[in-house]
Amino acid sequence: MELSKVVPWGRSLSEYRDMFSLSSDDLEKKILGCGDGPACFNAELRAKGGRVTSIDPIYRFSPDQIRLRIDEVYPQIMKQVSKNKNDYVWKNISGVEELGKVRMGAMAVFLNDYEKHQNSGRYIDASLPILPFDNGEFDLALCSHYLFLYSEHVGLEQHIQSMKELCRVAKEVRVYPLLCIGDNKESPHLKPVMAELERDGVKVSLLAVEYEFQKGATRMLVAKSV
Ligand SMILES: C[S@@+](CC[C@H](N)C(=O)[O-])C[C@H]1O[C@@H](n2cnc3c(N)ncnc32)[C@H](O)[C@@H]1O
Repeated sequence: MELSKVVPWGRSLSEYRDMFSLSSDDLEKKILGCGDGPACFNAELRAKGGRVTSIDPIYRFSPDQIRLRIDEVYPQIMKQVSKNKNDYVWKNISGVEELGKVRMGAMAVFLNDYEKHQNSGRYIDASLPILPFDNGEFDLALCSHYLFLYSEHVGLEQHIQSMKELCRVAKEVRVYPLLCIGDNKESPHLKPVMAELERDGVKVSLLAVEYEFQKGATRMLVAKSV
């Protein structure tokens, strides 16, 4: 994996709470954050005593390498979001400038934590569709802004294998958003992935969430191994 191909962009614990409708009981579970990248979900939840492990291929890089890459791509992302401003709902975040501050703030919290705990087992360099965990090791796995969002680059087979792997290591899996980046339309992989999981005996449902930033992204996929 080349860091120059990654666009690091990270969200906070409060955003994860809203994207995945996490209750206080959920936050006490043993959680896997899949593709957490530079989100500060892990740092903030650990600070509150939570049990969360994050995996992402960018965790093979040092804090300085990730910081440099964030600084490099930040102006490009801001330009892109300004250009496509109408693709987003500006309610909780009032505009592009505030978005920049919120995201950079979250990534600063991540970098500070990652500097201290990179090798503690909380941040593991791994990539879907293969996870280095035992069957049912986690109560809950969360995948934010990776599966379905990048359906143009990540194919159906990779989605199916990734979801099966998440269902193997966690009793419950939640994925958000379910729309593609660019056109904000439902991922073409969503229905085939749900059908394939159901064939395996996994219970799947689409549930409404309070969070909406990407316009129309108001549901999460929930998959429960039975
Ligand atoms: C847009 S970021 C989302 C970060 C975080 N989940 C959030 O919502 O703030 C997408 C992340 O997916 C990670 N990623 C890319 N390929 C992956 C794979 N095969 N398995 C797991 N994560 C992957 C990237 O490194 C990146 O950190």
